[in-house]
Amino acid sequence: MSSTQVVLPRILQVGADASQQLPDVLASLDCRRPLIITDKMMVQLGYVASIQKVLEGQDIQSDVFSDTVPEPTVSSIMAGVTMAREGNYDSIVALGGGSPIDSAKAISILARHGGEMRDYKFPRIVNEAGLPVVAIPTTAGTGSEVTRVTIITDETCDEKMLSVGVGFMPVAALVDYKLTLSVPPRTTADTGIDALTHAMEAYVSKKASLYSDTQALEAMRLIAPNLRRVYHDGSDEQAREQMMLGSTLAGVAFSNASVALVHGMSRPIGAMFHVPHGLSNAMLLPAVTEYSIPAASERYADCARAMGIADAADSDDAANEKLLQELKALNEELKVPTPAEFGIEKDHFFKVVEQMAEQALASGSPGNNPRVPSAEEIVEIYRKLW
Ligand SMILES: [Fe+2]
Repeated sequence: MSSTQVVLPRILQVGADASQQLPDVLASLDCRRPLIITDKMMVQLGYVASIQKVLEGQDIQSDVFSDTVPEPTVSSIMAGVTMAREGNYDSIVALGGGSPIDSAKAISILARHGGEMRDYKFPRIVNEAGLPVVAIPTTAGTGSEVTRVTIITDETCDEKMLSVGVGFMPVAALVDYKLTLSVPPRTTADTGIDALTHAMEAYVSKKASLYSDTQALEAMRLIAPNLRRVYHDGSDEQAREQMMLGSTLAGVAFSNASVALVHGMSRPIGAMFHVPHGLSNAMLLPAVTEYSIPAASERYADCARAMGIADAADSDDAANEKLLQELKALNEELKVPTPAEFGIEKDHFFKVVEQMAEQALASGSPGNNPRVPSAEEIVEIYRKLW
């Protein structure tokens, strides 16, 4: 037996209109000069103006850096680093999906400590404090608002660099499901499957603990019955609220238990072929689950039961059969494309599978999987996607 260290944001504001509490939250952190880090879509949708208005109501002046990009790259964050360094900011408000929040975490560290993003790549553990980040997620989701992880792509070699440490944990997260009501179905599905994957991977991870298990199981209970609902009707408030909390709990689970083989294999696909993170996870989830079940059959059966697709009367084998069926059915209903349908060229994919397998192993995530694959086995699973 050993103990587990749990790391969380200092403040979690959860529920309807949580984002409106930003001025009070900043005040309680003794911050009064925030830089808002976001993307163009958040500006267009009026989210940034509305946050700035809430801040102005309490006499808080803010500036905006809105040039973050999906699947952020090293070059995409550098202008933000310069802005954060040269202004007299005492905090960062990260507003958006996983990409703006991941960008903000990296900017927070680089602005205060200098160097290059590569210097902060895993296995280095980043414990130094950056500018305090208050995260306001607008998808349910990446869970980035409660994780000590950021992922920045080195575009010169198409590598998704995983960076880990308490330095990347936001000091506060405002988890407001109302911000997700207008998220379109495709993004809703991709981010929702990402959250489900976080919960499942945290639960089967070799680093799982009683603490992370409770978060992961509850996340699955919240996410699984609501994923189809929010995909088909984005305005379903009850389903959106449960998805949002589920996504945050899944983030807590995997931040404290780590992700595993799906994420390890997903990052190289994303980096090489520019597949959105949740989509590449969804493409891999059924095949990786099938590969992993023999090593953790009870754990996967627990997942099936938490997701409500099997019950106590089902044997573990029966529950796992249902789990595989459900993951395939979910991809079909949520219209997850195959790599071919996404537009990836088979020849190109097969030419880089060995390189992707190497990157997957180097990230460390496959080592947390209940069944730890060799490079050859990873190549095999990649090939199976076709
Ligand atoms: Fe993820």
